[in-house]
This record gives sequence, C-alpha cells and structure tokens, in this order.
Amino acid sequence: MKNFANPFHTPTHRQPARKLKIAVVGAGYWGPNLARNLQASPDWDLMAICDLDIGRASKLAATLGEIPVVESLDELLDTVDVDAVAIATPAHTHHGTVMTALRAGKHVLVEKPLADSRAHGLEMVAEAEANGLVLMADHTYCYTPAVLKMQELVQAGSLGEILFVDSVRINLGLVQPDVDVFWDLAPHDLAILDFVLPGGLNPAEVSAFGADPLGTGRDCVGHLNFRLPNDGTAHVHVNWLSPTKIRQMVIGGSLRTLVWDDLNPQQRLSVYDRGVSLDRQPKSPGERKTNAISYRLGDTWSPALQEREALSQVVEELAFCIRHKREARTGGASGLRVLSVLEAVTRSLGQDGQAAEVAGAELETSAARLERVR
Ligand SMILES: NC(=O)c1ccc[n+]([C@@H]2O[C@H](COP(=O)([O-])OP(=O)(O)OC[C@H]3O[C@@H](n4cnc5c(N)ncnc54)[C@H](O)[C@@H]3O)[C@@H](O)[C@H]2O)c1
Repeated sequence: MKNFANPFHTPTHRQPARKLKIAVVGAGYWGPNLARNLQASPDWDLMAICDLDIGRASKLAATLGEIPVVESLDELLDTVDVDAVAIATPAHTHHGTVMTALRAGKHVLVEKPLADSRAHGLEMVAEAEANGLVLMADHTYCYTPAVLKMQELVQAGSLGEILFVDSVRINLGLVQPDVDVFWDLAPHDLAILDFVLPGGLNPAEVSAFGADPLGTGRDCVGHLNFRLPNDGTAHVHVNWLSPTKIRQMVIGGSLRTLVWDDLNPQQRLSVYDRGVSLDRQPKSPGERKTNAISYRLGDTWSPALQEREALSQVVEELAFCIRHKREARTGGASGLRVLSVLEAVTRSLGQDGQAAEVAGAELETSAARLERVR
C-alpha cells in the first residue's frame, strides 16, 4: 500500500454506498469499546463477535442486539462474510491472529502493541502490503482532539524547537499476564510522539530502568529516556502501582511549552508562553553566567477542543483507508517504530539501563509520510 492518509482528512463519505462488514475478535476489557463504536458507525456493519470464551462473546453480543457469536477466528473466517476484523486479544496473540486474518484477505485493525516483537511486526506489515490490505494499529490517543491539536501546534512551529518531552502515565493498573508495564502502557506515549514530533519517533538509542518491587514477575514501574534531535531529551514514566492516576505530557519548546493533562476535561491543553532564553553572544565568558540567561513570563492559554470519542475516529479512519487504499495515520509502519523502541527498552533493561540501539531507522516516519501527502 503506497499511499498514506492525510491525518487532517475529514472524510466526506458520511453516506457510503455500501457499509463495510467487520467482526470483533476478543470480548474482554477493550473489545466491547471497539464493538460499540463499530456498531454506532455509519461506515460499518458489525457482523459477529468472536472470543475463545463464548460466554464472554455472548454477553457482549447481548448488549448490541442480535449479533452472532463464534468461538474461534477460524470459525469466524469460515462462516461469516467480513471485509475486516478488529482484534482486541492479548499482545502475544496479535501476530498469529493478524497473520491468519490477512492470509484470509481481511483488512485488520489490531490493538496496541502491534505485536510482541519487531520481527513479528515486520512479518505482519509485509503480509498486509503483499496482499494490498490495510493493517492499522489502534493507537487510540492519536485520534483524540487533544493530540490532534498538539500535533498541529508542534508541526506549525508554535513551540519552536523541541527541547524536552516528559510524559507520565501512572495509576493502579492491571498487572498483565503477558507483557511488562513498558509494553502495556508506553505504546500510547510512543505512538503519540511518533505522530506529534516533527521527525517522528526516530531515536538512535534508548535507555530504560524498570522495577518489580512486588515480585509479580514483570516490571510494574518503568522509566525510559531517549535523545531528541538537537540534544533535547524525552522521558516516559509508566507505572501500574500508583494509587494516583496521572496522564500528563509536557512538551517544552524554545518558544512555548505545551502541557496535556488528559484527566482535566475543562483544560486538557495549556500553552505556556513562558520559558528560558539564552543570550548566545555574551560580552565575555565571565559575564555569561550572570547575563546570558533570561526568563520570559508570558500568558498561558488553552485551545478549545471538541469532546468526541477517539475510537469513533479510529473506526472511521479504518473505513476511509480501506475505501481509498491509503495507509492509516497509525498504520503498520507507525506500529513498527513503536515496537523498535520497545525492543530497545527490553534490551536496555537487560543491561542495567545502558543505552540500547533502536533498530529500523529505515522505516519511514510520520513526518516523512506527512511530507509526501502534502
Ligand atoms: N487502545 C487502548 O487504549 C487499549 C486499552 C486497553 C487494552 N488495549 C489492548 O487490547 C488488547 C486486549 O486487552 P484486554 O485488556 O481487553 O484483554 P482481556 O484479557 O480483557 O480480553 C482479551 C479477550 O481475548 C480473548 N482471546 C484471547 N485469545 C483469543 C483468540 N485467539 N481468539 C479469540 N479470542 C481470544 C480472551 O478470551 C479475552 O476475552 C491488548 O492488546 C491491550 O493492550 C488497548
């Protein structure tokens, strides 16, 4: 698939000639959200719910009307006519389920992380491309009005040069059976950075520290760091053990600083016209310390944002990309860049926080994609 969707597209296909047909695989915690949005969408006919736990599938189907339920993906593909499947099963099953669906000629929306390894992700992307099918990762936050506005402000240069990013995603989370806290939560932050930062998510190396203070068998608290271009730095803190819930990202720029507080619906975004300036031409080295640094104390403003559910945009984007043969804003390539960083995180954890190289600089970044569609 060689074309890429413009993330600013506002599809005008509100009354499509034919609704596309889809089934949801996985009726646990997240699958019902996908099912609800698909059923409410003018683009989609929700044809079936599939779960190995048929009771769970039936319970979800009962909330949605008379929707058939099936017990396995194979049964689904054999008995239900669909254009696409939306997969909301645990991360370690994504590769197997996605490959099965792609080989059956179905477009796929798969939950984050795209896969449980970069090698698996590469196979999935290659399979989708070879068959001309859409493979889209549900990096849900990239479809929120707040993150869209952040992307707009950063790409327009309103913040100036990006000096630092600090992202915090902590709360009392479910300890996942198959992935650590980095692979569970950091895909959100990394996908957002891939979408928002001018060069996309493209670090040469990453260092990470994790901890499992309760002895659960996997890291429940994690910190990862990487360099931004021009010596800036990005830090992501993810944590399943925090009794307080924080969803905050600060993007500090040479002109302005952006603060996203996702738990404050009255003011999710704040733009601070404040910062530190450095006079780069001090009169003498001795004067540098006292004279060179100054503080700007300007206004703070809050951009107006629409309130709308991100998943409604996710399912709209999936339909748009299928109809127009475009790669999604959070397509396979973006999913792969996130996996590349996560794998480097895992390697860094294994070497006591030393920086680990990130594979895949050859992958096209969001920014490069945007360049091409403009
Ligand atoms: N986008 C988001 O914001 C977001 C939020 C939460 C979870 N997720 C993602 O959603 C996925 C599922 O997470 P969850 O918390 O809903 O998990 P869950 O364990 O609550 O539910 C998973 C369901 O999948 C079923 N299942 C497992 N393997 C299957 C298979 N091969 N075929 C059919 N059904 C199968 C299980 O029986 C279970 O009902 C994960 O990848 C997770 O990272 C995304």
